[in-house]
Amino acid sequence: MHYPYQITSIEQYQKEYQRSINNPEEFWGEVAQNFVWRKKWDSVLNWNFKEPKIEWFKGGKLNITENCIDRFLPTMADKPAIIWEPNNPEDRVRVVTYARLHKRVCQVAQMLKNNGVKKGDRVCIYMGMVPELAYAVLGCARIGAIHSVIFGGFSAQSIADRLEDAKAEFIITCDGAFRGNKDIPLKSIIDDALIGNKLVKKVIVYTRTRTPVSMIKGRDIWWEDEMEYAETQVEKDGVVHFPAEEMDAEDPLFILYTSGSTGKPKGVVHTIGGYMVWTNYTFVNAFQYKPGDLHFCTADIGWITGHSYIVYGPLSAGGTSLMFEGVPTWPDAGRFWDIVDKHKVNILYTAPTAIRSLMGFGLEPLQNKNLNSLTTLGTVGEPINEEAWHWYNENIGKKKSPIVDTWWQTETGGVLISNLAGVTPAIPSWASLPMPGVQPVLVDENGQECLPVINEAGASITSGNLCIKAPWPGILRTTWGDHERCRTNYFATYENLYFTGDGALKDDKGNYRITGRVDDVLNVSGHRIGTAEVENAINMHSGVIESAVVGYPHDVKGQGIYAYVIFEGKHFEAELTSKDILQTVSRIIGPIAKPDKIQFVKGLPKTRSGKIMRRILRKIAEGETANLGDTSTLLDPGVVDEIKAGKL
Ligand code: WTA
Repeated sequence: MHYPYQITSIEQYQKEYQRSINNPEEFWGEVAQNFVWRKKWDSVLNWNFKEPKIEWFKGGKLNITENCIDRFLPTMADKPAIIWEPNNPEDRVRVVTYARLHKRVCQVAQMLKNNGVKKGDRVCIYMGMVPELAYAVLGCARIGAIHSVIFGGFSAQSIADRLEDAKAEFIITCDGAFRGNKDIPLKSIIDDALIGNKLVKKVIVYTRTRTPVSMIKGRDIWWEDEMEYAETQVEKDGVVHFPAEEMDAEDPLFILYTSGSTGKPKGVVHTIGGYMVWTNYTFVNAFQYKPGDLHFCTADIGWITGHSYIVYGPLSAGGTSLMFEGVPTWPDAGRFWDIVDKHKVNILYTAPTAIRSLMGFGLEPLQNKNLNSLTTLGTVGEPINEEAWHWYNENIGKKKSPIVDTWWQTETGGVLISNLAGVTPAIPSWASLPMPGVQPVLVDENGQECLPVINEAGASITSGNLCIKAPWPGILRTTWGDHERCRTNYFATYENLYFTGDGALKDDKGNYRITGRVDDVLNVSGHRIGTAEVENAINMHSGVIESAVVGYPHDVKGQGIYAYVIFEGKHFEAELTSKDILQTVSRIIGPIAKPDKIQFVKGLPKTRSGKIMRRILRKIAEGETANLGDTSTLLDPGVVDEIKAGKL
């Protein structure tokens, strides 16, 4: 495998970048030729951001699994596609070659077909990080079903909402999932999610933990039985065959729910052709992947990072992807370093929150760990602070492995702004340069392009809201079932621009530094959580009158969740009531959305028109009490003093 579109020098980056902007159709048409198409596209790109309508490789026919698996079988059948490291380091590692992956994906496809799944049907996947999760995702893609993976940290209620929104009729899950010393009862959570659900016809259950599970006759079936039967259908005389469905480039590949500033998560839709080209192109270029490298992305496949850089990016490049079931701190804080040492990992891609948490354990967990195999490090999910960047660089990369700070989003499909490892310069805490095809622009509230100003250090810096001027192949196409929502969320704030929701700085060399969300979305341990969602969940708690949720700086999580709650119920006891509220949030959204701090207040600072002034609440949560800015428009300025006095 070789990647003719891999950029290898800074001059080439500049040339390619210019070419991609001057003539995107020619540029992406050339890149796309490196994939297997059953029929070539009629046009490379049609678009307007008004509706929005975005089509890449329209008329092209393909199946993404042929690009991720079949095309490598003639030359690389025995090469590992996935290396699986189990939660417990003493358990057996599984090495899944391309031939084995092909067989398993064909079996899953056959199993789905046997159970009535058709092209375009939605399959919800709620599994732990086992190879079967990757087989399930790819099995859906093989028959043209739309997968929607839900992270294991979401509650039954969240799953129920997503099932309903996607109108999903099929679920693939596990009995349970191992995470550190925990055993998460996934099937039982699914059972709760299905109370009252009338649409789901089949639940396929893979056995991982052998936790007792209820199996409802006619609906719940065992993965193992179904796969065994499917095997007899797809394998004849040692030859495995299951024809991949011919898909249009613009058919949906998956739905992935993500939080926004409104209360309800939205189903971001990615389509096949553009997403494939984009994840592959960014994987090969940002990480400078070389054939034979072992890529270890520590994310969960329940998030976009796992979709793009555990599954589709590495596999479409014929790479080897390391999939890890556990957590960084179990059995001890040396777990990542053990894995790097044991498997000779070359590329390590993780989140700043994990780095900060591991930093807290000092250098002891690194002793006697050979990290020499590492050539490239990556971070994603939130801004990386300089301290964490330097720790990563010095202690993990030994100052010889370039760090790529990759900025992107669920909606962008793959990396939009990042240095290219060892090719373009790394600048601590700066995501740096846009990928070819990406045209960022910083605008003010009115959509006017911001101008640079000279800062105290004499540097020329532009600061503004980060937007993108034109589509790249991996951009979202719609939000499931509600195109208008897609338009208002991303394309209506500023005319003819995609609005990211992030703020950024730009230096005079065109490098970008992402400063964080400018909307009401929090980033907690690299997970996106909408404040409105958390407020809705808190408000569901009996006795709660109103609440306001803001973020505050947190040493490990990046941002913590601070909730101000007006409670007028009976039986109030601050500590216990807080715990009750946490329980409610866990039920409604999931444990990942539990506030770190709950402050009970008598009132919230509101304007005369009834709008909560979050700016003030944010400042108080951040510990800034002196300089709260103008509070004269408040209905009752007195509440501010009370809130300040009670700060946690
Ligand atoms: C933030 C994760 C700074 C950002 C791939 C974005 C980052 C949100 C970075 C998307 C980075 C992601 N530097 N901030 N390198 N990467 N973010 O959808 O606020 O889970 O909007 O996608 O994470 O989160 P999401």
